[in-house]
Amino acid sequence: MRKKIVAGNWKMNMNLQDGVALAKELNDTLTAQKPNCGVIICTPFIHLASIAQFLDQSVIGLGAENCADKEKGAYTGEVSAEMVKSTGAQYVIIGHSERRGYYNDTPEVLKEKVLLALKNGLKVIFCIGESLEEREANKQNEVVKAELEGSVFNLSAEEFKNIIVAYEPIWAIGTGKTATADQAEEIHAYIRSVIADKYGKEVADDTTILYGGSCKASNAPELFAKPDIDGGLIGGASLKAADFKGIIDAR
Ligand code: PGA
Repeated sequence: MRKKIVAGNWKMNMNLQDGVALAKELNDTLTAQKPNCGVIICTPFIHLASIAQFLDQSVIGLGAENCADKEKGAYTGEVSAEMVKSTGAQYVIIGHSERRGYYNDTPEVLKEKVLLALKNGLKVIFCIGESLEEREANKQNEVVKAELEGSVFNLSAEEFKNIIVAYEPIWAIGTGKTATADQAEEIHAYIRSVIADKYGKEVADDTTILYGGSCKASNAPELFAKPDIDGGLIGGASLKAADFKGIIDAR
C-alpha cells in the first residue's frame, strides 16, 4: 500500500542556525512520539549537511528543494543531484511552481533534473498544478496531465516508483486559499487515473499523491480524510515545529 507522507518545504527561509534549531526540535519531538506517517523536511541546500548529521532519517527524511539539470562541471552557482545525495539527503523536490515560474524550469529542464536525481539515488517529490486562470477555464486536468507527460512519463514503471507526486494548485500556494477537500480529491483521483493509464493500476495505487497549498493543521484533517489524498507538501506551516506537528498528527 502507498505511503502516507507529510513533507515540509522550507523554501528560502531560515538561516543555518535557525534551520538547524527547527530540525533539532522536530527530531526530538518525533523521535519521542513516533508519527504514524512518513515525514520529510526539504530545506535549502546549505542546511542539508548539518541537519543530516543528527536527523534520525528512519523517522524524518531529508530532502533538497531543487537540483541542477546538469551532471557536473562549469555551471557556476548550481548544485548537482550527486552533491545533494552526498550530504545524506534522500529526497529532492522538482518542478515546484516557483521554480517553473521564477526560474524558467521548463518541462525539458525538469525531465533532466528528474533523471539525474534518480540516477543518484534520490527520491523525487514532483510538483504539478494549475494557475488560477487555468482553473477558471476548467483546464486543470489537462494541465496536470501535460506536466506529468512532459517530465516524468518518460520513466519506466520501475523508475516511477521513486516519484512522489505533489498536486499544488498555484492559486492556493501561500495565499491562504485552500482547494476544498472535494476539489482536491477530484483532481487527485484524476491524477491517479492518468498514472494508471500510463503504468497500470498497481503502480497508480502505490503512488503517493500529496496535496499542497495553504495546508495547515485546521484544514488537514478534512483533506487527509479523502481516499486519494495521501498527505501534504507544506510550505508556510512547516516553519514552526508546533504547526508542522499539528499537520503530521492529522495524518
Ligand atoms: P504553502 O506552500 O503551504 O505555504 O501554501 C506550499 C508549497 O508551495 O509547497
